[in-house]
Amino acid sequence: ALAAAGNSPLLGFKAVPTSTADRFIVPEGYRAERLISWGDPLFSDVAEFINGGGNSATEQASQFGDNNDGMSLFMVDDNTAILAVNNEYTNYELLFPPLAPPPAAEGDQQETTTPVRQLTADDVKKAQAAHGVSVLTLKQQADGWRFVKDGRYNRRIDANTPMFISGPAKGHALLKTKADPKGERVLGTFNNCANGMTPWGTYLTCEENVNGYFGTGEQVEISPALARYGVGAIDAGYQWHRFDERFDLSKEPNEANRFGWVVEIDPKDPASTPVKRTALGRFKHENAELVVNKDGHVVVYLGDDERGEHLYRFVSEGKYNPDDMAANRELLDNGTLYVAKFYDGATGGIKGKGEWLELTFGKHGLTAENGFNSQAEVLIHARLAATQVGATTMDRPEWVAAHPTEPMVFCTLTNNKNRGTNDQQPVGGPNPRADNHYGQILRWVPASGSHSAREFDWDLFVLAGNPTVHQDSLYAGSDNLNADNMFNSPDGICFDRGGRLWIQTDGNYSNEGDFAGQGNNQMLCADPKTGELRRFLTGPVACEITGMAFTPDQKTLFVGVQHPGEELAPSHFPLGGDSTPRSSVMMITRIDGGVIGA
Ligand code: FEO
Ligand code: CA
Ligand code: CA
Ligand code: CA
Repeated sequence: ALAAAGNSPLLGFKAVPTSTADRFIVPEGYRAERLISWGDPLFSDVAEFINGGGNSATEQASQFGDNNDGMSLFMVDDNTAILAVNNEYTNYELLFPPLAPPPAAEGDQQETTTPVRQLTADDVKKAQAAHGVSVLTLKQQADGWRFVKDGRYNRRIDANTPMFISGPAKGHALLKTKADPKGERVLGTFNNCANGMTPWGTYLTCEENVNGYFGTGEQVEISPALARYGVGAIDAGYQWHRFDERFDLSKEPNEANRFGWVVEIDPKDPASTPVKRTALGRFKHENAELVVNKDGHVVVYLGDDERGEHLYRFVSEGKYNPDDMAANRELLDNGTLYVAKFYDGATGGIKGKGEWLELTFGKHGLTAENGFNSQAEVLIHARLAATQVGATTMDRPEWVAAHPTEPMVFCTLTNNKNRGTNDQQPVGGPNPRADNHYGQILRWVPASGSHSAREFDWDLFVLAGNPTVHQDSLYAGSDNLNADNMFNSPDGICFDRGGRLWIQTDGNYSNEGDFAGQGNNQMLCADPKTGELRRFLTGPVACEITGMAFTPDQKTLFVGVQHPGEELAPSHFPLGGDSTPRSSVMMITRIDGGVIGA
């Protein structure tokens, strides 16, 4: 029977089958339209997108950025909204006029290979301009929400936009460079993966695989701290260091320490300066799930997406003030960072207890003796601090989502081929499979229903897998997975106001072998209590589905299609014909005007 035969009162749509088509497919009774695509101009005096990578760096700087990822919607009034969208990275095989096809890259780690064509300084400027964040003005028209060219909130933030550094690491020696001898200002943000939003109306954009932008042609010694963050002489193929000295490790050894942060942006003020909030720690950030705890403290859950890295939590020192938005502006500068440690349950089954370990200078061995001289160093080297306190190594923590009304939190652990292959990543706890290429979704309930409690109970909400290829093993997946709703590599997750859990995938789309029958990347909807899972949409060829935002009435859903046609896979999404494939934000409504998913 179809998964649609389930009886969760939360899920009211008919499941869509898997697909290998170059199309964006939504359930019967739903409509999907394109809101905006990479290269669409934000202003009327800017050129339109040119197929084949023909736009200049200057044009790209005022066009929608590439590889849209996490996004949040901010209402201005009933018919005006702002959509802030991350633009994570670029695909040089599509950004520039044709290059020889690069060898296969590996999933989300963006191990982009060097194109054959010699890049120019202008090419690197264009790449820098395609990164960052796009802020879009939306208006509700008779036929639905539309992007407004020249809208008053339209803004591009890219790899060269001036920003402030704030919080405990501001001004630390490790953040000082020739251009910024005080360690207080930095140019730009890039590899903006997922996101968050605050109840005081700001957008949080999270810097992920920032190591790939640094390199050097010189002989340099790489410190163990930089190495832990993946920074080395060989970059990920972006070649920025060849034309922009701050990315050359032999010229600016500290520039890499100025990336890997969560950045706060005021989307309602296009002239505002974004702020890097160092209290939230430096690592390969996925999203920033913010909860106002019942005691008023602000809690932010944070994943570090790399094999064997960790899951974090920030608890603010101050309390949220719903009556004075300005008073909340510095809440993310003072507080305590924690990292998660998991224990197996005494009674068997894949569940148990866990605790949050404080990452505070002077505690748990975070001392000068062990290489930590201040709280700033604990935050700049958060990964080293997490190891020092004995945090659990995880299967690539991606997004965290907290239930809107109940103390229940979910985190996607997307996959980890290294699990079980070394002493640091043993099989066990919430990471129960060696060579984990399917991923799982972790769930935890904080003690006393308080997000600032030290302890929690955890279990696995779903083990992704393939029940048609594997039987009687954990690789078949958990009981709530079947041939009709299977998937691999959960990544984006989010709750809607009704308590439906939405799950997006960034997985292997070969549709072969272990992944046979799973098709293109997809988005599913789940009942967080019964575990029922139903496929809601499928994406075009070689894309990832990532990023989502609902209007407050839950009647429009914005969803991101990222890198269709990557590595020159045969896609012409979204415009068809022989057009260049383009990352896009799609807009989904119900033909009867109802609530999405219900
Ligand atoms: Fe940018 Fe971990 O996904
Ligand atoms: Ca991913
Ligand atoms: Ca991605
Ligand atoms: Ca992701």
